[in-house]
Amino acid sequence: MTNITPFHLAIDGPVAAGKGTVSRLAADRLGFLYVDTGAMYRVAAYLAIEAGVDLTDEAAVTELVAISAIEMHNPLEAEKDGRLTTVIVDGEDVSWKIRTEAISAGSSKVAAHPKVREILVKKQQAIAEGQDVVMEGRDITYRVLPEAQLKIFLTGSDIIRAKRRHLQLLTRGEDISYEDVLQGIKQRDEQDLHRTTDPLKKIPEAWEIDTSELSIEQVVDMIVSRVAVLRSL
Ligand code: DC
Repeated sequence: MTNITPFHLAIDGPVAAGKGTVSRLAADRLGFLYVDTGAMYRVAAYLAIEAGVDLTDEAAVTELVAISAIEMHNPLEAEKDGRLTTVIVDGEDVSWKIRTEAISAGSSKVAAHPKVREILVKKQQAIAEGQDVVMEGRDITYRVLPEAQLKIFLTGSDIIRAKRRHLQLLTRGEDISYEDVLQGIKQRDEQDLHRTTDPLKKIPEAWEIDTSELSIEQVVDMIVSRVAVLRSL
């Protein structure tokens, strides 16, 4: 059966709330495309750092994003190494290079530039057009997909989020202390919450899920069941 109206599931939330894992699993169960919009801001930071461009130079970072070919797809069989999505920039696989703490810190700086956001929001909207998607980020519920049929704000306590992210980084071989991870998370949340253009926020109609006391499977089950109900209406 073909869907005339695609189903858009929009998920926003702070750093390390579990958006990536939950979205990936929900998308797989629903047969939807998973779109990690944070990866695009990470790419913007990566491009700037590689080119030796100052992250505060909005015009230069915008130019780099505008001229680069950013491609994202579900990991192919040969790419299944724990990544949630494959990210290719100008032909180079940067899926892991954009996951370091240095790029994390840089991404929230470049995400504060309105012109960078303008380009990336358009790309995200173009991806979602005509397809069922689970798209996650900071401004998806109210800027990128304001018409989404289901809007979720995924959150969790600072401590739980820092513990999860720390474990993730250690597993990947990054040598970093728990305190540094917690500090990094707080700093990025601060920047994402207080930037002038499209800050992270919970809109009133979003369904808030606190993941602190829930397993990934429980969260995914809750979301998939809600989508099933909405689709049957
Ligand atoms: O989700 P993430 O940690 O990979 O996102 C990286 C940075 O990009 C994060 O600090 C906030 C920013 N971001 C954003 O401003 N808007 C989005 N839609 C997604 C991410």
